[in-house]
Amino acid sequence: MKVLVIGSGAREHALCRALSLDPDVSSLYCAPGNAGIAEIAELHTVDALDGAAVAELAVSLEAGLVVVGPEAPLVAGVADAVRARGIPVFGPSAQAAQLEGSKAFAKDVMAAAGVPTARAYVCTDEAGIDAALDAFGPPYVVKDDGLAAGKGVVVTSDLQAAREHALACGRVVIEEYLDGPEVSLFAVTDGETVVPLQPAQDFKRAHDGDEGPNTGGMGAYSPLPWADPKLVDEVLATVLQPTVDELRRRGTPFSGLLYAGLAITSRGVRVIEFNARFGDPETQVVLARLKTPLAGVLLAAATGRLDSLPPLRWSDGAAVTVVIASHNYPGTPRTGDPITGLDQVAEQDAPKAYVLHAGTKRDAASGDVVSAGGRVLSVTATGSDLAKARERAYRAVARIGLDGSHHRSDIAAKAAREAGPEATSA
Ligand code: AMP
Ligand code: GLY
Repeated sequence: MKVLVIGSGAREHALCRALSLDPDVSSLYCAPGNAGIAEIAELHTVDALDGAAVAELAVSLEAGLVVVGPEAPLVAGVADAVRARGIPVFGPSAQAAQLEGSKAFAKDVMAAAGVPTARAYVCTDEAGIDAALDAFGPPYVVKDDGLAAGKGVVVTSDLQAAREHALACGRVVIEEYLDGPEVSLFAVTDGETVVPLQPAQDFKRAHDGDEGPNTGGMGAYSPLPWADPKLVDEVLATVLQPTVDELRRRGTPFSGLLYAGLAITSRGVRVIEFNARFGDPETQVVLARLKTPLAGVLLAAATGRLDSLPPLRWSDGAAVTVVIASHNYPGTPRTGDPITGLDQVAEQDAPKAYVLHAGTKRDAASGDVVSAGGRVLSVTATGSDLAKARERAYRAVARIGLDGSHHRSDIAAKAAREAGPEATSA
């Protein structure tokens, strides 16, 4: 099978890595890709938001499966354009991707499907905003209705700051604050059958101890030793399946990856948000643990045959990923800095630790790999338990040089400790 992956982040590198290890994949292409993906896939230039261009590329490559990584192309209808040319696509239609593209739409679907989520008001004017902030009280949760790359949400106890963000948004969702740990649970679906993956946790704040601004994600781990073993079944029954059923009932079936961002509150599981694609950086750890070859799973979803897919096989071990970000990320990042140490990780730590690239490119003049975005690398490692995986990941992180970069030093630290002495001593 010839597979084309659309996107250029560490998530797409993780997808390409898993696909490159699948014996059923004969050729692997990625567009636009990055310097790391270039080592395992043939890169092509394309405007990922241009459905006609992506479809044309897929046809010219004779792709048997197209996997769309990021949300923006999905919301722009890229999956529809490829599907219209008769090529199986892993990724929802533009209409179904509204589950991520509009928080108000997601709230409406959840209400209709009886899915537990934070109570919310959708506001469009100052009077509505003030009434909603007053109704919930602090801490205030204020969300831009549209796509904002994880940066449209402000959670604050400062009424003035909440009000300012709300007024700057246009259409805004103001909702009840949810406390409790967060879990990311992904499911692969063909619009009818829903196959959950293993849960993961990501770290959204820029600095250790969950301090600093929200980011696209600074690290992740899986499994979650502290989580109730029945969590996945519960979320399948109360969140994932009802949501997929509701979208099918509306005539806009959702096929692809349904990502539930959940809060485990004292009153039970609540949906914080839905995404319509694999999460980054959680994908890096979830796919590190998946033993079933990936292409067959994605193709079964793309062609409506998930009901005949054998159960997924998972490693019992753990995976941890640590994101190395550019100077000044999540503000305007500095780019063009050379990255060193990649060869050392490949020579000394592989295959149990490896570097997935996000914002990187090969400098045309020097041939060096240089930073080209905010999140630059996602250093990923596996181990028999979280403590082991963490140790390997940080050993590899220490080999990487990138001037001015920063990363969190506490990814999975608490979970590894709480997993008990048996796990931490291994
Ligand atoms: P989102 O873009 O909706 O995932 O929100 C980004 C982050 O803001 C989430 O991962 C949470 O940490 C936080 N957040 C969003 N909604 C809520 C809420 N209702 N209560 C508490 N925290 C929230
Ligand atoms: N890990 C957060 C996201 O992918 O949106």
